[in-house]
Amino acid sequence: MVKKKGIPITVANIDDKFYEFYNRYPHMNAAFHNGVLKGKVLTCPLHYATFDMTTGKKLRTNN
Ligand code: FES
Repeated sequence: MVKKKGIPITVANIDDKFYEFYNRYPHMNAAFHNGVLKGKVLTCPLHYATFDMTTGKKLRTNN
């Protein structure tokens, strides 16, 4: 996690492309940088929602 203009950002290297996104899950404001990234899918450590980090699209909701 880094800050960009004071905003917490998570940066991920996925297939040699860098993606940055706001460091908060939409649910309960959990930190993205605590999630598990496998390929392009990030899993939230709290309730296991999954996101495609190349598009920002939520793939699975567990809340
Ligand atoms: S805080 Fe991530 S799915 Fe609930």
